[in-house]
Amino acid sequence: MQELKYSHLSVDELTEDQAREELEVLAALIAYHDELYYLKDTPEISDSEYDELRHCNSVIEVRFPNLIRADSPSRKVGIAPTTGFAKVKHVQPMLSLDNAMSDEDVSDFLARARRFLGLQEDATMELVAEPKIDGLSASLTYMDGKFSMGATRGDGEIGENITANLKTISDIPPQLKGDRVPKRIEIRGEVYMAGEEFSLLNEKRIETGEAPFANPRNAAAGSVRQLDPQITAARPLHFFAYGLGEVSRDLSMDEHVELLDLLKEWGFVVNPWVRSCSDLGKVLEVYKELNEKRPFLGYDIDGVVYKVNRLDWQTRLGRVARSPRWAIAHKFPPEQGQTVLLKIEVQVGRTGAITPVAHLQPINIGGVVVARATLHNEDEIKRKDIREGDTVVIQRAGDVIPQVVRVVQDKRPAGTTAFAFPQVCPACGSNATRIEGEVARRCIGGLMCPAQAALRLYHFVSRPAFDIEGLGLKHIETFYHEGLIQTPVDLFHLEQKADKLKGREGWGEKSVDNLFRAIAAKRQISLERFIYALGIFQVGQTISKLLARTYISYATWRQAMESAALDKEGEDYKELVSIEGIGESIAQEVLNFVSEPHNQKILDDLAGNAQAAGQVRVLDAEIPSTIESPITGKTVVFTGTLTEFTRAEAKARAETLGAKVASAVSTKTDYVV
Ligand code: IVH
Repeated sequence: MQELKYSHLSVDELTEDQAREELEVLAALIAYHDELYYLKDTPEISDSEYDELRHCNSVIEVRFPNLIRADSPSRKVGIAPTTGFAKVKHVQPMLSLDNAMSDEDVSDFLARARRFLGLQEDATMELVAEPKIDGLSASLTYMDGKFSMGATRGDGEIGENITANLKTISDIPPQLKGDRVPKRIEIRGEVYMAGEEFSLLNEKRIETGEAPFANPRNAAAGSVRQLDPQITAARPLHFFAYGLGEVSRDLSMDEHVELLDLLKEWGFVVNPWVRSCSDLGKVLEVYKELNEKRPFLGYDIDGVVYKVNRLDWQTRLGRVARSPRWAIAHKFPPEQGQTVLLKIEVQVGRTGAITPVAHLQPINIGGVVVARATLHNEDEIKRKDIREGDTVVIQRAGDVIPQVVRVVQDKRPAGTTAFAFPQVCPACGSNATRIEGEVARRCIGGLMCPAQAALRLYHFVSRPAFDIEGLGLKHIETFYHEGLIQTPVDLFHLEQKADKLKGREGWGEKSVDNLFRAIAAKRQISLERFIYALGIFQVGQTISKLLARTYISYATWRQAMESAALDKEGEDYKELVSIEGIGESIAQEVLNFVSEPHNQKILDDLAGNAQAAGQVRVLDAEIPSTIESPITGKTVVFTGTLTEFTRAEAKARAETLGAKVASAVSTKTDYVV
């Protein structure tokens, strides 16, 4: 099984590429553990470890909403119980289609097919153009005319047996009609959900507290993969038939259009927009027409499929790898529409990032009503000069959140003004600052900001921080809103509120006692973990370790930070930014944190101050050296070019000998090499 690559970094330290990789691994890991838990009853990790994976996924998604995957675990509740179905090997593989993204690609496809068949220039190659339905393909086997087995495409070779679910779809005839029914035949087509029915289903789901589906295709896929066919039966699913798989006898047909007629005769629904075309010009006309009709069809299509009409030519053309040479999918560009931007709202995420969202006059784009679009960040609004009241072009492409493409300048009403991005957090009123190099403005309210507090508290108890078992994010959110735990300090007073915990669902006498024991055991903590637990932006485990190793004790660290915050010219500030690995921007984050009065109070209450003791004892950092050496505890600066070692190597050696390595000379420097 894959492993997380960047768990040593805090989410705030991740680059976009690292976040993308980590989300990919998380999706695979969570799917793997879901399968073990739900289907095999053999979990390999504890519930809290599992929660941590899901939590990690959500935190990254909150910071990088543009990276949310179509198969994101946060979009699924538990498992899509695919693996609960028996496997089916397709007698003939279910192929996929090559994509044409431009007119030129289509022209190339036609030329290739004609060349392959050795057609003369004046010979016609009849084509059939069909809408490419955005659903999921299914294969239906009929024995003696009776629907006997239905399967998903799976990987093309092996699918899943979903017969019971497909039997609930009224477009799928239980018995083939007519007298031209072979002994065994496999029909192929697309299961889909209509736009309006999809919206109604989502409305109901929202009412009953279930997560809405992202789009009609996901809704259809989720519906046919239900282990209980009664659930599928309650979902509004449809089926368009468009082809054949394995057939037991020759049906003596010559053309694809004949096949479509036969499918209708048997009782299937064939898409009414199928058109015959004889050349490139006609093909592109159909494409244009369908693209225009697309918003009004009532179901999602994502392109047009062109198929060579003559079946003997299809056979001759055969396939390359996983797609036929006789067909191609001409994809539509992302769907766009124009509407009025009513209001720009800024929201604060759980990590404090402030993101702007456009509220729109609802508009139907390709069957989906869009009322909100992402504006990404402050710079994006400025660059595109997006104002409240503007008419804007909205784009919806696949699963991604709708976006504002541009402003329609000539429709701008008189008297609009440029959008002034708020400088304070909409949830708590704290300053929303923007650090150089960052695209997002962030609320510095930290624990006092209701939008961030629960996640901050969860971070505080997470494994690399205080490592308190038994408190999931859900519990913390509940306790936060009830006022039971509002700051980390409250954790250490929780025992006094035992009666408020005991007796709740999932909180028996024993689990509450276990929790108190877990909290009590963490009243002693290393400086490194303590700093990490504070959840300072950009201060992950690596930076926390550097700080702990440099300042050794909590009192020294705290005092140095407070004095560095007061005087940027002073020695304490110089020492902080001279730590190898800590630049101005991280230093500023740490100093912002310690200068904030709410945070100061939390630090005092937690770990004490000059006047009073705190709730926890922060243990001094150990110098990571087992050998006493002449440079143990000394601060060394390497400068210029070294002849015997690289700088990194020299630094590692000095650290092994117990020295602290700084990047610039200050009064704390003992040796300069
Ligand atoms: S023909 C040999 N016709 O598109 C290819 N496919 O990427 C057989 N699809 O998996 C497919 N509408 O799920 C064909 N009118 C149509 C289609 C269609 C949608 C889907 C199908 C297939 C995918 C190919």
